[in-house]
Amino acid sequence: MDAVQNAREAYDAIHAASLADPETFWLKAAEAIDWFERPTRAFDASLGVYGRWFPDGVVNACHNALDRHVAAGRGEQTALIYDSPVTGVKRTYSFEELTHEVSRFAAVLQDFGVGKGDRVVVYMPMVPEAVIGVYACARLGAIHSVVFGGFSAAELAKRIDDAEPKLILTASCGIEPSRKVAYKPLLDRAIEMSTHAPEAVVLLQRPELPAELVERRDHDWESLRDAAMGRTTECARMAATDPLYILYTSGTTGTPKGVVRDTGGYLVALAWTMSGLYDIKPGEVFWCASDIGWVVGHSYIIYGPLLIGATTVLYEGKPVGTPDAGAFWRVIEEYRCVSLFTAPTAFRAIRKEDPNAEKLKNYDLTGFRALFLAGERADPATLQWAEEKLGVPVIDHCWQTETGWAIVGNPLGVGLLPVKHGSPTLPMPGYDLKVLDDEGHDAPAGKLGNIVIKLPLPPGCLPTLWNDEKRFRESYLEGFPGYYQTSDAGFVDEDGYVFFMARTDDIINVAGHRLSTGGMEEAIASHPDVAECAVVGVADAMKGQTPVGFVVLKAGVDRPAAELEREIVQVVRDRVGPVAAFKTALTVARLPKTRSGKILRGTIQKIADGEDWTMPATIEDPTALDEIGEALKARG
Ligand code: COA
Ligand code: AMP
Repeated sequence: MDAVQNAREAYDAIHAASLADPETFWLKAAEAIDWFERPTRAFDASLGVYGRWFPDGVVNACHNALDRHVAAGRGEQTALIYDSPVTGVKRTYSFEELTHEVSRFAAVLQDFGVGKGDRVVVYMPMVPEAVIGVYACARLGAIHSVVFGGFSAAELAKRIDDAEPKLILTASCGIEPSRKVAYKPLLDRAIEMSTHAPEAVVLLQRPELPAELVERRDHDWESLRDAAMGRTTECARMAATDPLYILYTSGTTGTPKGVVRDTGGYLVALAWTMSGLYDIKPGEVFWCASDIGWVVGHSYIIYGPLLIGATTVLYEGKPVGTPDAGAFWRVIEEYRCVSLFTAPTAFRAIRKEDPNAEKLKNYDLTGFRALFLAGERADPATLQWAEEKLGVPVIDHCWQTETGWAIVGNPLGVGLLPVKHGSPTLPMPGYDLKVLDDEGHDAPAGKLGNIVIKLPLPPGCLPTLWNDEKRFRESYLEGFPGYYQTSDAGFVDEDGYVFFMARTDDIINVAGHRLSTGGMEEAIASHPDVAECAVVGVADAMKGQTPVGFVVLKAGVDRPAAELEREIVQVVRDRVGPVAAFKTALTVARLPKTRSGKILRGTIQKIADGEDWTMPATIEDPTALDEIGEALKARG
């Protein structure tokens, strides 16, 4: 039997076992975790919305990622490598050092009264203190909620109001290659805008752009850390079902969804993936070049590698421009990374700047075993380029903030399955994935439909939305009773390979960042001169998609279109944030709609992408579509 057939048989056996007998499968996987009280059962269907994992397990995430490795003799091994080309700083922390830092900073949090179940918002750039802050929360059983730095004050305010944090951890600035991002004024504005007021803010001053502290409310990170010298804290005993974090993600409206992550199921699932999917062993260096503000950063910068005693890399830089398209190769060589996980957009950026990968010749990538891509559809051209230039398996895998780990992937640790470009391969253990037509019937192989997962979701996936079980049910469970609706359209081929083709909702994916066109529309609609608008994601060679807004002005508004369009771009930047990359607003006389008043966003998008389109039979006024075409042509 050849290796390919072996791998497929091994995969089939594992996947089938995980569905046929989830109790045995996940209790076995749970052995990778150090429990204060080992769970006696894997799943209880009677708890929560669709059941809960490891209902009687008692555990702590920080203990599993840090303390236990020190106790097991790994104290001197590097746990965290901080590499910041934007500041020129490099720093490493051993497991022992990181454990001490976290234990000490948790004492600082305790002094603010932070304990089990309290929320702490972390609004920080990619600095080690952010990781220390997150682990300090986990240590005490406080629920962290990290907010990505590229969001606006208004978005941050929404998250503060929903999570109601006792404390906010922040830094004076983030550093983008083109500018310093002053976090403090954004945070001050967010706190002004929000109804909920945190009791305190702890701020890390960065020398590149220090910030003024607000008296009584704000506290200096370093001074508190100094004062806590020699203090230690214990890891709290948490129920496996207790939330570890809330991570907000875009929904179809401007109100973000607070994805809740439980503790035990998440640790078990991550530990399985570190070996089964990524094939990483304790002591090896795994680099996930994402941001801690995204789910990928939570799972594979902060938690996953440390959980199994591997080393993680915290990279404060970009794939290009810090300083050039050889940046990734430099990091891989310097730290002997065995694998890299990033978004396809990063590779598109590298390829654009260095199409022949000339820079690669300057680095020794011996020991580099695999590249993992996720976050957006991996276009076959980029995938092929990476395979050819790197000469290692390039593994596309697909997941969502909601799931916390891969739904579909190619399990390198079980055995590499043949890669089909355009498909992230096969469902991971515990995911009973189906493609259903709109009426809920199984779609035949090759036929596009709704990608759904039969309940229960496997460990690690969201049990609910923070403060909003109703929205959880409505968004994910009611569309196809008995299934979790991914809101992705796709198909399964005759070999079982899954292809994710597009979202079925108003979510777009810009440079691997998930954004709501509905949220951008809400921002545009707040402009006093706007009557109505539609935002669609238009294909972009580097970012995958970029948003374009079509705007109808109120009757009687008689101002230069260019001036208004600039203001509208600014409104989106102010209300959603620079991460939306919203640069194009086009004024049109009317929007194409159906006779029942539904805006024909799909058709607008096809026109913008230069794809074939047909005139919808239900259109109210066909000339509105011509106008869209003309507005796009005029803008080039
Ligand atoms: N804090 C503040 N602002 C941020 C930010 C952060 N953490 N991250 C991005 N921004 C800003 C950028 O400065 C930029 O602002 P600008 O309009 O003033 O230029 C804007 O948000 C858009 O940023 P980005 O999407 O990163 O575009 P870019 O052109 O600066 O860089 C890439 C393009 C491809 C290099 C970059 O998007 C990238 O590295 N992507 C990888 C994505 C990724 O890791 N996704 C995680 C999922 S796996
Ligand atoms: P996020 O919650 O930000 O991780 O975004 C999740 C969405 O990104 C998914 O629902 C998909 O639409 C898309 N996505 C993520 N990874 C992939 C992938 N490998 N292939 C295709 N789409 C992907």
